[in-house]
Amino acid sequence: MAIYFDNAATSWPKPPAVRAALDEYFSDAGGNPGRSGHRMSIAAARLVEGSREVLAEFFNAEDPSHIVFTQNATHAINIALYGLVRPGDHVVTTTTEHNSVMRPLRHLEMSGIELTVVPCRRDGTLDINRLNDALRLDTRLLVTTHGSNVTGTLFPIEAIAALARARNVRYLVDAAQTAGAIPIDIREIGVDLLAFSGHKGLLGPTGTGGLYIREGVLLSPLMRGGTGSDSAHEVQPEFMPDIHESGTLNVAGIAGLGAGVRFLREIGVHSVRAHEQDLVSQLMAGLAEIPGITTYGPRDASLQCGVVSFNVDGAMPSEVGLILEEQFGIMARTGMHCAPSAHRTLDTFPTGAIRFSFGWFNTAAEVGVALEALR
Ligand SMILES: Cc1ncc(COP(=O)(O)O)c(C=O)c1O
Repeated sequence: MAIYFDNAATSWPKPPAVRAALDEYFSDAGGNPGRSGHRMSIAAARLVEGSREVLAEFFNAEDPSHIVFTQNATHAINIALYGLVRPGDHVVTTTTEHNSVMRPLRHLEMSGIELTVVPCRRDGTLDINRLNDALRLDTRLLVTTHGSNVTGTLFPIEAIAALARARNVRYLVDAAQTAGAIPIDIREIGVDLLAFSGHKGLLGPTGTGGLYIREGVLLSPLMRGGTGSDSAHEVQPEFMPDIHESGTLNVAGIAGLGAGVRFLREIGVHSVRAHEQDLVSQLMAGLAEIPGITTYGPRDASLQCGVVSFNVDGAMPSEVGLILEEQFGIMARTGMHCAPSAHRTLDTFPTGAIRFSFGWFNTAAEVGVALEALR
């Protein structure tokens, strides 16, 4: 029996339509999009642009060209940070951030940006007043996660976006944990930049992700190279999305990502959200009744995404993880979850915690098995 509770790392299983889309690319398309005028190149371009369109519609972006395909959320975050921030700029972020945000920011700090890291509360929640206090006249960018990969804690991105707008600061949202799991309406929220993984909640293959860039937000490209467009010129095209898409795209992966998003559109993200919220509630209610278990985060399913972290008194997370897999077939993440300051906030540094992260295909019965195993 396999019980997969590691959807925050990458989702599994993928819908059959995702696998079919990969197969469709390899059997019927197969070419390099935008590079040639032949049938297979055109078919590949259609797959890519079809996925771009479905993603733009899914997030309510103003135009598909404002969605840039990337390898993952980390790549998208790097395009945003290195494209926008210059030495001398002030950047604000929080202690809940993943290393995909923190490592580039620490690197940029070494090259002359000033960084303010706003401390979160012990349950990982953010005091928006502290964020407001950290913003200055020279603040160029505010970066926050939408959902913590450690505690699942959700940040009020709509209120943060309003704050950033009022203070004339650009706002980058790391939606790696929430894209496909929590409804996101980009235009209603009013974010400038939103980075997402394609391979987690959006149910696409690994090697996919994207960055939404609002109209009027100009980023210098992280990479320059062939785009299949404007090929007579030796300088990088300046139009979207080509400016940020140098080199051959992961066409098969992007086709699969499009199929994942279409699958979600059929079931509705609100249904995914409701389902994951039910699983989180069931798990937390069960964990609360087991002596010797400590849970972290808001402990309220309405305030977190499908992620729950906990520890078993007197046992290392890795030890519990091993028993869960070997004796019960449960796959979970254990230890440090790529967010050291989040673990410091929770007081789980450096041993970490056990993390269960749910997806659409998990069931109440699986949560029941896990609770019985932990008991
Ligand atoms: C909050 C958060 N940000 C960024 C990332 C990086 O995502 P990716 O693996 O798609 O680069 C992750 C991955 O787990 C994450 O949880």
